[in-house]
Amino acid sequence: MSEWLRLHFAELVPFPALGDRLTDEQALQLAVQQAFEGYGFTAPNPAVGCVILDSKNQFISMGYHHRAGEGHAEALALAGLREGQSLKGARVFVTLEPCAHEGRTPSCAKALAKTEVSEVLAVLRDPNPLVSGQGFEILKAAGKKVRCLEAEGSAHEPLIEAARAVCEFFLTNFADKRPFVSLKVATSLDGMMGLRNGQSQWLTSPASRDFARFLRGAHEACLVGKQTVLKDNPRLDARDTRFAKESRHVVILDSKGELLTKPDLQLFKTHSAQNIWIAVGPESVHKASSLAQVLLVEEQISPAEYLKKTLKALWERQIRSIWIEGGAQTLSSALGAGIGDRLWLFQGPHLLGGRHGRSWTESWGSEHMAERRTLGAVRHLALGPDHVTTGRMIISKT
Ligand SMILES: NC(=O)c1ccc[n+]([C@@H]2O[C@H](COP(=O)([O-])OP(=O)(O)OC[C@H]3O[C@@H](n4cnc5c(N)ncnc54)[C@H](OP(=O)(O)O)[C@@H]3O)[C@@H](O)[C@H]2O)c1
Repeated sequence: MSEWLRLHFAELVPFPALGDRLTDEQALQLAVQQAFEGYGFTAPNPAVGCVILDSKNQFISMGYHHRAGEGHAEALALAGLREGQSLKGARVFVTLEPCAHEGRTPSCAKALAKTEVSEVLAVLRDPNPLVSGQGFEILKAAGKKVRCLEAEGSAHEPLIEAARAVCEFFLTNFADKRPFVSLKVATSLDGMMGLRNGQSQWLTSPASRDFARFLRGAHEACLVGKQTVLKDNPRLDARDTRFAKESRHVVILDSKGELLTKPDLQLFKTHSAQNIWIAVGPESVHKASSLAQVLLVEEQISPAEYLKKTLKALWERQIRSIWIEGGAQTLSSALGAGIGDRLWLFQGPHLLGGRHGRSWTESWGSEHMAERRTLGAVRHLALGPDHVTTGRMIISKT
């Protein structure tokens, strides 16, 4: 996705022709660029990219993982070699450690071990216990030189950060056994997401909205609060037809199950009942209807706890990445719960003012500086008249 790449790299490595000479840095960046081609399409697998250079550092092949169950990046790069192409002394650049295990597809580490390549450079180590270090061991045992940039320290930090970002859902799923959560908000320059009278559309340009819809589609579920549905009547779809509809979910926080009595909402016309989850309290569970699935959440708990329980229930249903996009109460309850791995802030060139405007953090606040939320690995992008900021969310320890 070009906007995602522009957030990470000031300049992109152009698509190479066979025989073009590349530096190691260019080959690694190209592998990350390849991985981004699969971003949002590979769950539960990571998006991975691979580039192969011959012994004279000339480009000979590349590939990326397109979808779960289909060929891995390394396998596709090997399959894409010209007939008769020698791999003697060739080097392989991958964004993630080659897999050690046989799943739906054969082990990439074993496939590379059988070739004459001399070296494998991986940006990240695979956290999957079935791989973690074992892919490297297979290659070393076959006499290949192996390097993992992540293990070598910070000299390659921007590249490492980009390689992490492209498979961040997967990394979090394995490290923390929970879904990856992105918080998205569109605001004015003074941080308002709309007006108290309910008007909020449109603060950002069509280019920003397209990019946000792409990111929404890349996540397995999009979650909003009930008021957003009642006020905006959104479709909450990805529009990009490359995202398989069957695997995209919509989740609404609606403890009283009010939406279940409103079949005319766009949401119900756009998505199948199988893919809509209404998170209700026990009092409303009897309202289960043909419109949506009902997700039972405990009653009389704080909004923060309500959201936590909802996310836990979604993880139990194999939903691994969640895009939370409003409204203000929902985003505030996420902040209150310490939920949110990445923030996506889209700012349009407007001022709404606090008198009639609604801040997206209106019902959350840090009483002490130590409770503030901070962004790490921050990236900025000018998108038409708008400004996009993204970063990994961390809770400050100071
Ligand atoms: N600019 C943007 O990016 C953007 C994006 C989305 C929405 N918006 C705007 O935001 C406005 C709606 O925002 P809002 O703050 O009024 O409402 P909201 O966050 O959309 O919905 C809040 C409602 O969701 C239910 N809920 C259940 N669990 C919750 C929890 N853990 N946290 C929060 N809510 C929970 C509550 O209803 P029950 O008590 O009945 O369960 C609550 O009243 C609309 O005007 C919309 O246009 C702007």
